[in-house]
Amino acid sequence: MLFSPISNLLLSAVPAFALSLNSANTISILSNTSPSRNTLLANAIVGKNNASSVECWAVEPGFQISPTTGNDILQLGNLSGASYSQWPNTGSPIDLGFHNAPAVQWVLMIVGGANITFPDLTTHNLTVSPGELFIAADVAGTSAVGHRTVGDSGSIVLQMPFQEGTVVNHIVVNEGTCH
Ligand SMILES: *[C@@H]1O[C@H](CO)[C@@H](O)[C@H](O)[C@H]1NC(C)=O
Ligand SMILES: *[C@@H]1O[C@H](CO)[C@@H](O)[C@H](O)[C@H]1NC(C)=O
Ligand SMILES: *[C@@H]1O[C@H](CO)[C@@H](O)[C@H](O)[C@H]1NC(C)=O
Ligand SMILES: *[C@@H]1O[C@H](CO)[C@@H](O)[C@H](O)[C@H]1NC(C)=O
Repeated sequence: MLFSPISNLLLSAVPAFALSLNSANTISILSNTSPSRNTLLANAIVGKNNASSVECWAVEPGFQISPTTGNDILQLGNLSGASYSQWPNTGSPIDLGFHNAPAVQWVLMIVGGANITFPDLTTHNLTVSPGELFIAADVAGTSAVGHRTVGDSGSIVLQMPFQEGTVVNHIVVNEGTCH
């Protein structure tokens, strides 16, 4: 199957998250505080302490039900200058090497897949599946060398940068990949 849904990352009927600031000024996630709705959990490659790693982000607000069609619709934020890239069909994996994200952006793996690794071998790796929507945010200045992407030949990738200085509203659910 060339195109698989992103439903592996879509939690249906999970309790909505709510933010609370605890005494240590960190954000905790409380459940059962509002009616259930769908939340997209997306893997995000971030630059922290000058190194890249993966976090799991819950995109907020979650899906909203369209009053006209009844579909669940998720706002992805204000975007600028999207691009569509077709990787050559070489028959063997394509190694992009270590690089920083060119912009803070949504990335949709339309066809193909990729393995993303980090200079520190103890950092959780990320396997991107066909159809997966994820975020690359480890732009230059946030991470010394970024991440290494090795993708399937013939992959097709849609990159959708956020408007300068913005990123979709989210809660960090955990360090490492989404479960
Ligand atoms: C997108 O930009 C518009 C116009 O500047 C603004 O009103 C809106 O709040 C922005 N949306 C998000 C999700 O940032
Ligand atoms: C990530 O992948 C690299 C290369 O395959 C491997 O050496 C490393 O052990 C992996 N890291 C983790 C935390 O599994
Ligand atoms: C990040 O690491 C690079 C390479 O080691 C170094 O040149 C740069 O100054 C570091 N940046 C910060 C903010 O520590
Ligand atoms: C990604 O890693 C998996 C598991 O090791 C492997 O089967 C697959 O071929 C790798 N994909 C690429 C594009 O290297």
